[in-house]
Amino acid sequence: MKIAVLPGDGIGPEIVRQAVKVLERLKADGHAVVIETAPIGGAGYDAAGDPLPEATLALAKSADAVLLGAVGGPKYDTLDRPLRPEQGLLRIRQALGLFTNLRPALVYEELADASSLRPELVAGLDLMILRELTGDIYFGQPRGRRALVNGEREGFDTMKYSESEIRRIAHAGFAIARKRGKKLCSVDKANVLDTSILWREVVNEVAKEYPDVALSHMYVDNAAMQLVRAPKQFDVIVTGNMFGDILSDEASMLTGSIGMLPSASLDAAGKGLYEPIHGSAPDIAGRDVANPLATILSVAMMLRYTFSDEGAASRIEAAVRRVLRDGVRTADIAKPGEATVGTERMGDAVVAALSAHR
Ligand code: IPM
Ligand code: MG
Repeated sequence: MKIAVLPGDGIGPEIVRQAVKVLERLKADGHAVVIETAPIGGAGYDAAGDPLPEATLALAKSADAVLLGAVGGPKYDTLDRPLRPEQGLLRIRQALGLFTNLRPALVYEELADASSLRPELVAGLDLMILRELTGDIYFGQPRGRRALVNGEREGFDTMKYSESEIRRIAHAGFAIARKRGKKLCSVDKANVLDTSILWREVVNEVAKEYPDVALSHMYVDNAAMQLVRAPKQFDVIVTGNMFGDILSDEASMLTGSIGMLPSASLDAAGKGLYEPIHGSAPDIAGRDVANPLATILSVAMMLRYTFSDEGAASRIEAAVRRVLRDGVRTADIAKPGEATVGTERMGDAVVAALSAHR
């Protein structure tokens, strides 16, 4: 298991350090883990003048899986777009062909009252959002700026999806739904956008190969509303890059704790990049307060989706649950007045729970 570790910026290095402890624990238990680290994002810019240095991409390509912390920080906000930390992330997704982005929103029993929604609306929520990650308005050409005849500036981007791009993410959606509650909701804006009309057509064609999965379609504005009205109606949502970006942030907050949510971005062969859903949180970086659980749970996803090691994946998830059950809390998931631990101690608690239950 050759794993490229890209800590990135802000809280990235400290949360990734905890996830690496977990990997080292697995190694001590006999897993063939090999770890190599490289800079990305602002750290890439600082080290090599590029948010995705060539050596980092080469390492990521040669690895079986990539573990990423987070990128970005105020220090880099004034750089030109191609040099900004986010570009490192967008470019590595595209260069590795990571078109399937899995973003689970899972409510832990112990944390159900952390949600901003009433506990009965979210208790037991287990939702998976599949976001297409390498197409759409994020990457569509042409894009840019031009001057209008009247001298006004105009900015423009292109939303587009080819049939094959829609087909492969639809297949991924049905395949995941089949392994879960067998319900897939495809989200688009087919009442307005041509891209979405084709999206819906192709998803319907692919559906014929999955008669056991119940497919529904929903407009994105309605989906945004339904997610906060009755989120438990969903099992798996599949959608494009832009809508998925927005809906997955919304869904993460249903759980009340963005610091808990991992993600996986996979290519056609199951190679993947794993990262927490949250950002680099520069305001709390280096203070040992960030929650490392989303990154640790990303390692569990890595074991499940790239290394097909369900045993090790569940073992990590069980260790996280045990730590939560024992009342160990970082500040973001603590109730007012509850005692909290820092990043390092949360990492240590998970490793201890792993060690106690082989
Ligand atoms: C995400 C982030 C990124 C995105 C940014 C940082 C480029 O918001 O992973 O959801 O828009 O994809
Ligand atoms: Mg986002």
